[in-house]
Amino acid sequence: MRKLVVYYSLDGNTKFISENIAQEISADILELKPVKEITRNNFMKIFSGGKQSMMKAEPEIQPFDLDPSSYDTIIIGTPVWAWTFAPALRTFFSKIELKNKQIGIFCCHGGGPGKIFEKMEKKLEGNTILGKIGFKDPLKHEKEKDASEAKKWAREIIDSLSQ
Ligand SMILES: Cc1cc2nc3c(=O)[nH]c(=O)nc-3n(C[C@H](O)[C@H](O)[C@H](O)COP(=O)(O)O)c2cc1C
Repeated sequence: MRKLVVYYSLDGNTKFISENIAQEISADILELKPVKEITRNNFMKIFSGGKQSMMKAEPEIQPFDLDPSSYDTIIIGTPVWAWTFAPALRTFFSKIELKNKQIGIFCCHGGGPGKIFEKMEKKLEGNTILGKIGFKDPLKHEKEKDASEAKKWAREIIDSLSQ
């Protein structure tokens, strides 16, 4: 079974969870990086990122040298931006056709997942969604507890496939 964790992260929370999951299930990992990243660490990031997200922008992302469609099981991670998934993921969904994959979705958020799972599931029609989970700013709150929960969640997905 070929396993991939694909994610975008601006402030490191989604990256932290992704790396924990990839290590737990021995998956390859792909970080989506916009060619032009929004400015971090200032109040404008919420405004510019939120606007991109609401406008359904598809920012150009840096090329990557693996083929996501060659994997059977894919865990997809994103921060919640303006109640939905981050724009880099929108670009990814447009560029890469995923069909008949076993998929787990997770998000990191500052307050709640909003409608992110429904919105991602819509983008992922034609695949089987095996699990969905959200974490509240793990790096600020319950870092180690969230890492353990993420690993357990991912392990259960993989175990359900090998039965
Ligand atoms: C542009 C922007 C928009 C955001 N919108 C939301 C939101 O609608 N709901 C929410 O709960 N958190 C929101 N957040 C908070 C992030 O989802 C949260 O801090 C997340 O853990 C960040 O993940 P990251 O560190 O991987 O970038 C937003 C953050 C940014 C930068």
